[in-house]
Amino acid sequence: MSLLEKISGKNRGLSAYGQYQSEYIYPKLEGPLRSRMSFKGREVIVWSFNDYLGLQSDETVIQAETEIVKKYGAGYPAGSRLLTGNTIYHEQLEAEISQLIGKDVLLLNFGYQGILSVVDSLVDRHDTIIYDQQVHASLIDGVRLHQGPKFSYKHNNIHQLGKLLSKVRPGSEVLVLVDGVFSMRGDTANVADILKLKETYDFTLLVDDAHGFMSFGEHGSVGNLMPQVDIYISTFAKALATTGGFVAARKEFIDYFKYNLRSQTFGRTLPLLTVASVLFKLKLLTQEGTERRNKLWQNTRLLQEGLKTIGYDIGNTCSPITPIYLTCSEEKAAHLLKELRYTYGVFCSPVVYPVVPKGTLILRLIVTALHEEKDITQTLNAFAQLQQTYGLVRALEYS
Ligand SMILES: Cc1ncc(COP(=O)(O)O)c(C=O)c1O
Repeated sequence: MSLLEKISGKNRGLSAYGQYQSEYIYPKLEGPLRSRMSFKGREVIVWSFNDYLGLQSDETVIQAETEIVKKYGAGYPAGSRLLTGNTIYHEQLEAEISQLIGKDVLLLNFGYQGILSVVDSLVDRHDTIIYDQQVHASLIDGVRLHQGPKFSYKHNNIHQLGKLLSKVRPGSEVLVLVDGVFSMRGDTANVADILKLKETYDFTLLVDDAHGFMSFGEHGSVGNLMPQVDIYISTFAKALATTGGFVAARKEFIDYFKYNLRSQTFGRTLPLLTVASVLFKLKLLTQEGTERRNKLWQNTRLLQEGLKTIGYDIGNTCSPITPIYLTCSEEKAAHLLKELRYTYGVFCSPVVYPVVPKGTLILRLIVTALHEEKDITQTLNAFAQLQQTYGLVRALEYS
C-alpha cells in the first residue's frame, strides 16, 4: 500500500462526507470581521471567530496597522529574533506586558509552536511531565517530544494529579501542564487547588491561558494567583485577535528561553506589524477595556442562560466559549449544521470524533463583544426550533 493510499483511508470526521466538504473544511466567511458576515452569499451570524473584545474590526486599529505597513511593509524585520529580528517595539511590547502581569516576558513568534518549544526546552529524559487530558494540542505536542516519563490525569481531577505526583521517581523534576481556560469545554483549571499541592510536592506549574488573558482581565483566568504561577503563557490569537504570543516567568526562566526555544531561534521573528498592532490594542484597552469586557460577559450570560433555559447542556463553561453537547451521529451532525447555516443563518463550528468520543457532537459558539442582542435572540430562536424538529439529546456522559 502506498503512503497516499494509506492516508486516504484515514480521512476522518466530517471531512469524510465529501458532499459537505465546502461546508466544514475551510469554509469561507466573507466581509469585514463582524457578528454578521457572508457565507456562500447569505448573511450568517458568526459564532466562530477569535476576537473576544471586537478589536480587529475597530477603525482605529486598522488605521494604526495601515500606518505601520506603509512605513515598514508587512514582512519587517527580516530574520530570527536572536539574530536580526529584534526592534525597540518588540522590547516595548515585552515591557508593557511585563508591567501588566508582574513577570518577565518573552514574545513568541507563533503561539502553537512557541508553547510546544517551551515544554520541549524545560525537560530532559529524566524529568516527568504530568498534564490534564484536555490541554491544548500545542502542549500535547510538546509532551510528544518528551522522551522521559509522561502521565495525564482526568480533566480537572486534582485527586488523580496528587496521586501521580506522589509516584514520581525520586530525582525526577516535574512539569505540570494545564490550560487556564480549556478551549473545547470553556471551563477553567482549578489553579488554586493545584498550587496547594505544592505544599506537599515539588513541581513547576505551566498555565496556557490563551483564552483568559485580557478577556478575563489583565491577569487572565488565574487572577490574583498570577505571582504563584511559575510559567504563564498566552497567545495573541484570542482577545488580541492576531498571531504570536508570549511566555512570562521569572527572569532566570526567560533568560533561558531566549536561547533555548527551537521554534524561536530557528524561525522568523514576530512581524513588526503584529507587534505594533498588539501595542495599539493594549493602549486602546486601557481606555475601553472595561466597557468591552462588560459587553463580552453580558453577551455571554445572555446566550448561555438562554440555551440552558431551552434545555441544552452546555457543561461547566465559565467563559465565553459555549459548547453545546449533543448525542448525535456524524451524518446527523452534518445535516444539523447545514440546517443551522441555511435555514436559520447561524454559523458555528462543529467538534466531532476524534476530538470527542464517537456519537458525540459539540457545537461550539464563541461569544464576543461584537455580538448584539438581536444576534443572540435570533440564535436562541434557531436553537429552540431545532430542539423541536430534531428532539436533540444531551450527551450527559461526556459533558
Ligand atoms: C488554549 C490554546 N493554546 C494555544 C493555542 C495556539 O495559539 P495560536 O493560534 O496563536 O498558535 C490555541 C489556539 O487555538 C489555544 O486555544
